[in-house]
Amino acid sequence: DVMREVLGLKDLETKLKQKLHVEEVIVVAGDSDLSPWVKKEMGRACATCMKERLANGDIVAVTGGTTMAAVAEMMTPDAKLNDLLFVPARGGLGENVENQANTICAKMAEKSLGNYRLLHVPDHLSREAYESLIEEPTVKEVLELIKSCRMVVHGIGDAITMAERRKTPNEDMEKIQARHAVAEAFGYYFNEKGEVVHKVKTVGIQLEDLPRVEHVIAVAGGSSKAKAIQAYMKRAHHSILITDEGAAKALLGE
Ligand code: F6P
Repeated sequence: DVMREVLGLKDLETKLKQKLHVEEVIVVAGDSDLSPWVKKEMGRACATCMKERLANGDIVAVTGGTTMAAVAEMMTPDAKLNDLLFVPARGGLGENVENQANTICAKMAEKSLGNYRLLHVPDHLSREAYESLIEEPTVKEVLELIKSCRMVVHGIGDAITMAERRKTPNEDMEKIQARHAVAEAFGYYFNEKGEVVHKVKTVGIQLEDLPRVEHVIAVAGGSSKAKAIQAYMKRAHHSILITDEGAAKALLGE
């Protein structure tokens, strides 16, 4: 029954907090690897979690991916929050348009009746082009907004899945494999211990900026991401984790 299900999820949350040393964990029912609506439920939980913590005028930086797209989909307007600004957390990371941070932040603004600013930095640029682009006043301005965000909402992926989805060049792919990367977030690849083993060079939020951000919410589920979530959370004890039953049970070995 409903109550038992709720109690079961609470139990998973408590166990995950202990295992991952994280203060806040939200677990939604189901496994998003098996049922697509579970991703939407994580999206709904995330939208609620964001609203509880945001204040008018706040800047929210978001990453890309299908989970973040589900978060955007589930955003709704809030009479008390009519002046939010959404920005992409980092420049292009090789995703398709629908999964890009730019697209997702525009969608979040549309759904929540907020504003957005985009970052137009292509994925593969020569050093010279890159250096002159980041000096462009409009790009600089958005980069400054990103650095002053009060909230970051991001996905976590399995390292190899992400490296393949991004059509990572062979040389980097070999490095990612040789160094046993298991998790990916923000364009950073992590091994089982949560150490960075590779990073996609791009502008925007860097990993070392995260401790200064007031609210960081990680959203990732599906039993196939259990290892990735466990590895990434080793360096994100202050983040809020929103996940699903599938990932939670796999992670806890249940
Ligand atoms: O590429 C952006 C990104 O947020 C990655 O950092 C993350 O690994 C991935 O998307 C998650 O994608 P999905 O939600 O589709 O699994």
